[in-house]
Amino acid sequence: MPHRLDKPKRDSPYKIIRGKRGNTITLFLKDCLSGMRENLAERSVDVVVTSPPYNIGIQYTKHKDNLPHEKYLAWMGEVGRDVKRILKDDGSFFLNVGSTPRDQWIAWGVAQVMKNEFALQNVIHWIKSIAIEKRDVGRYPNIVGDIAVGHFKPIVSKRFLNDCHEYIFHFTKTGNAQLDKLAVGVPYQDKTNIGRWKSARRDRRDRGNTWFIPYETIQSKNDRRHPATFPIKLPEMCIRLHGLKRNMLVLDPFVGIGSTAIASWNLGVSFVGFEISRTYLDEVATNLRR
Ligand SMILES: C[S@@+](CC[C@H](N)C(=O)[O-])C[C@H]1O[C@@H](n2cnc3c(N)ncnc32)[C@H](O)[C@@H]1O
Repeated sequence: MPHRLDKPKRDSPYKIIRGKRGNTITLFLKDCLSGMRENLAERSVDVVVTSPPYNIGIQYTKHKDNLPHEKYLAWMGEVGRDVKRILKDDGSFFLNVGSTPRDQWIAWGVAQVMKNEFALQNVIHWIKSIAIEKRDVGRYPNIVGDIAVGHFKPIVSKRFLNDCHEYIFHFTKTGNAQLDKLAVGVPYQDKTNIGRWKSARRDRRDRGNTWFIPYETIQSKNDRRHPATFPIKLPEMCIRLHGLKRNMLVLDPFVGIGSTAIASWNLGVSFVGFEISRTYLDEVATNLRR
């Protein structure tokens, strides 16, 4: 699925990696606001999947993650305006935001500033860990006992629960983007549902808006190349849900070590991204070669 950035590029990309399917992964070592303005044409991007800094004091190599709150939200507002400019009219903007126990409003604060630009079409809960008791699930033959799966950072506190989820806000320009829901669908538990409704012609149903996507297990802290990534499966599911198309272009304004770039690579679609840290961008190239 080849795609060419259709605006003459003013910046030279830090790296362009060409895929076998004619797709390209284009990485810019650049601030995302000026990067989007100078390199991306209006209505040129199909899907944006990103996770911005949450302004919670995370130690990145370049970015200072402790702006005054109002300044942070104003910055997010600017990102939203630029994303709106470069997004196609039927495009999807998946914005992953979490929070901290001390400030549970962060995600909703960021969502609120996007309200000026976008319709909120779906709110997806990214579930990192879940515990399910056998007695609550009834007669599900595959569940034979209590289960507790996934990873989370334990919070030692009498006040706060462990934080086992984050939001993925799905913004669109009209609230009417047509999705490929079955591309991320799940098999019916009760197979008699297949064929019962006109829409249920195969063993796949809408999975809903709770997505269990665990982090990969890492053996040691040294395996952690970046302090705040999402699993590659997350952007992969977002892109599939929007719908895979020929010549599509995916953007991540905050590349990190490239989970969205790698998802695009795996799906054979073109990608463009911006990141201010050279260390992280080098990691993307290494990850793509793995
Ligand atoms: C939450 S992380 C993204 C992680 C990414 N989703 C991944 O899985 O690897 C946010 C990233 O934004 C980068 N960043 C901060 N300010 C930026 C800016 N103005 N332009 C581009 N990237 C920026 C940070 O260096 C950090 O790597």
